[in-house]
Amino acid sequence: MDRRTVVIGSINYDIIIKQDRLPKIGETISANSVSMSGGGKGANQAVQCAKLGLDTHMIGKVGNDHFGDELLNGLEKYHVHTNFIKKADTNSGLGFVNSFPDGRLLSTIEKGANYKLQIKDIQDAVSIIKEASIVVIQLEIPIKVAEYAIQLGKKHGCYIILNAAPSVPISADVLKLVDCFVVNEAEASYYAGTEIETAEQALAASDLLQNMVAHLVCITLGEKGSVLFDGKEKQYFPAEKVDVIETTGAGDSYIGGIAYSVLNNFLINEMGKFASKVSSKTVTNIGAHEAMPSLEEVIM
Ligand code: RIB
Repeated sequence: MDRRTVVIGSINYDIIIKQDRLPKIGETISANSVSMSGGGKGANQAVQCAKLGLDTHMIGKVGNDHFGDELLNGLEKYHVHTNFIKKADTNSGLGFVNSFPDGRLLSTIEKGANYKLQIKDIQDAVSIIKEASIVVIQLEIPIKVAEYAIQLGKKHGCYIILNAAPSVPISADVLKLVDCFVVNEAEASYYAGTEIETAEQALAASDLLQNMVAHLVCITLGEKGSVLFDGKEKQYFPAEKVDVIETTGAGDSYIGGIAYSVLNNFLINEMGKFASKVSSKTVTNIGAHEAMPSLEEVIM
């Protein structure tokens, strides 16, 4: 099996505040704890792929601040190849996450270097894309760059996984090139144009979303599980029951599980179970990269 995976996307420095609730306007409250760590949907997905044993290369941009060096070191620590991560003449992207006791999150990003990524940066990395089996992309980079990356990956025969997060308008023609489209309930609601909160709603809306892409749709619903549909087989997967500590990066971890499943030719049934198991491990610890499981931890 050729395990080479290229992840194109965001690299953020995350500040995760655990708190019971949000303050009201004019009110000050104390947080329960704060943690600072490597994050960003792209970097999270790259770390999870690498922890599952995939030969993972990342294309992206960090800033010329001290966070940039820390983020690069963090990725290298988890064996993500960083040769195609450039430094931009600005600050690194930041993620501000409010994490509540029930596991729900509010997430705000500061674009920073991620939005300095250009089409030329993708072209400069074509040698690695040519050698990849899978390209994984999210939308915390300029949309034109993401669309170009999808087209280039497809041209070179790669399986394209698009995590359409955050939800932004995207070319319908480019979406048709996407082999696997992964969205959470908020993003699924945006792209389907209908409210999706429950498994039943996700099962119903998966037809419409699957029609927009080449093959597979995955809708993640947090503690409510996930839905997979490839145009023939449609299946609901309940989330594994675990003691939730903190959920940042759980969706990204799920995508690492999907990438591993694709490379191992898993059927939908195995794929949904495996990805759910991977993300269920991630929510049992704080932060994204550190909390993500190795392959041994998933299959033990
Ligand atoms: O998906 C979780 C990620 O979203 C966080 O790490 C944060 O940086 C934002 O990009």
